[in-house]
Amino acid sequence: MNEIFKKVEKILQEAKIEEYKKEAKLIILETSKQTIEEIIITSKVNNEEEILKKASLRAETKKPVQYILGCQDFMGDRYIVNENVLIPRDETEILVNCAYNLIKDKNEKIDILDIGTGSGCISCALAKKLINKNIEILAVDKSIEALEVAIENISKLDLIRKIIIRKSDLFSKIRDFEKFNLIISNPPYIPKSQKNNLQKELEFEPYDALFTDDEEGVEFYQKIINQAPAYLKKGGYLAFEVGINQYKSIISMFEEGFQDIEIIKDLAGIERVICAKLK
Ligand SMILES: C[S@@+](CC[C@H](N)C(=O)[O-])C[C@H]1O[C@@H](n2cnc3c(N)ncnc32)[C@H](O)[C@@H]1O
Repeated sequence: MNEIFKKVEKILQEAKIEEYKKEAKLIILETSKQTIEEIIITSKVNNEEEILKKASLRAETKKPVQYILGCQDFMGDRYIVNENVLIPRDETEILVNCAYNLIKDKNEKIDILDIGTGSGCISCALAKKLINKNIEILAVDKSIEALEVAIENISKLDLIRKIIIRKSDLFSKIRDFEKFNLIISNPPYIPKSQKNNLQKELEFEPYDALFTDDEEGVEFYQKIINQAPAYLKKGGYLAFEVGINQYKSIISMFEEGFQDIEIIKDLAGIERVICAKLK
């Protein structure tokens, strides 16, 4: 393998970057704008100086590689990311797939509300999976800077006919007549009291995307569950990504107004997604 791979891997390994081989490859391919095949055939790598600069930045600051490169893959598509949005996580694919299964068989128009859209990854992935259906997604966030990134991703993936963006603090800018088949959200769920015990990389992500004021990290679920019935169509669904062990509290929040509660575990066996149907 080309010398540059060894150099970049060494920089990252010495900085104790866990997935140093994977990240080295990512930095090299993204920055050289070459495929691995091109590099092997030509034995040449473009932009070596830039590659080493980015690797050193990663090693010295621990800034996530996705923010250094400005992109992250999610469900087979490349998303633009910057420090105004959460980096899309693999676990969130479980939420998207769960939501898709809930509504995929509907033949009438499907209206979806994505609360806290961030990069827009949930809305875009759902819109792509349901591309042949008559769907309209309203993607809201309270951060205007996050919405700017979402708009870029929606345009890049050619989904502007399917997704509408709006600045809203939870339901504050949702009109009384707007009703949805599905409300989906991956809200902030880390209690702010845990802020100092987390890995360095999380310090680069937006505070408002991660942290809650309450001790259990469930305040957003409670607020959304309280208000959702007014905005759901008859038999509509609510689907959330949840933090470790939060599902038990959320089940009890659901009990009054919702039924058919379903919980889906991630690959590590952690209850990661919870959804329910309006009673
Ligand atoms: C955990 S991130 C999820 C981002 C994206 N949906 C994803 O899954 O990658 C939570 C998002 O909620 C937004 N947010 C936080 N508080 C909010 C509020 N009160 N109203 C609307 N959005 C909010 C944040 O700005 C952030 O983009």
